Amino acid sequence: MGRPSSCLHRGVGPPVTGYRDAVPSPLVDVRLRPIVGVDLGLLHGGDSEFDDFGPRPVRTEPPSPDLRSGPGGLAVVDPASHAVLGMVSWVWQRWGPNPESASPMIGVWLRREARGRGVGTAAQAALVDLFFERLRLHRVEAHTDVDNLVEQRALERIGFRREGVVRGAQWRRGAWHDGWLYSLLREEWLAAREGSAPTGG
Ligand SMILES: CC(C)(COP(=O)(O)OP(=O)(O)OC[C@H]1O[C@@H](n2cnc3c(N)ncnc32)[C@H](O)[C@@H]1OP(=O)(O)O)[C@@H](O)C(=O)NCCC(=O)NCCS
Repeated sequence: MGRPSSCLHRGVGPPVTGYRDAVPSPLVDVRLRPIVGVDLGLLHGGDSEFDDFGPRPVRTEPPSPDLRSGPGGLAVVDPASHAVLGMVSWVWQRWGPNPESASPMIGVWLRREARGRGVGTAAQAALVDLFFERLRLHRVEAHTDVDNLVEQRALERIGFRREGVVRGAQWRRGAWHDGWLYSLLREEWLAAREGSAPTGG
């Protein structure tokens, strides 16, 4: 017996199965799951100064949940209420023609009411875990505005290192904006995992 659709439209619904419903976060508890059609109206973006790229086409199809392809995306969900809190996304960047030299660049957007309580940090940490656990890749990237201090802090808490400035890369609100390029390498991710693993006694 399904839930009433009005409930789903509020972003409250059962987890979608068939992917990996439970992606435990090392921080606050969030889940990542494929985005479905009823989520799309909740995942509009564009409501923060760092995400305001002007009018954008209405999305009619969910992004692919396949980590190997891109652009892709997953919903960020509260595991208790199943409420949709936002989404994580990725595109693939190439630093050389061979597959080994491709890296996902991740992004995140949260609904306004979900911000400021650790969800963004946890959601990106969960996505990074998925990439390193499932794919044989060496590097995950992220990019954020030089003024987006919250996102910078979230990335650095996960272990991302700032590599340098990406000059005049984004056109938003009538001006070009600089950003920081970040990366996290597999060996750093592994070291952080080992460092946070509970010790047996
Ligand atoms: C950016 C975003 C994903 C962050 O997620 P969030 O859940 O709000 O952030 P968190 O609660 O995980 O906080 C991240 C860190 O920023 C810190 N922080 C909060 N306000 C801050 C400020 N003004 N300056 C510096 N750090 C700040 C938090 O204390 C936290 O650090 P801590 O873990 O050491 O305490 C979310 O706010 C969002 O969706 N914003 C709009 C879209 C956007 O900017 N997306 C990113 C584009 S690159």
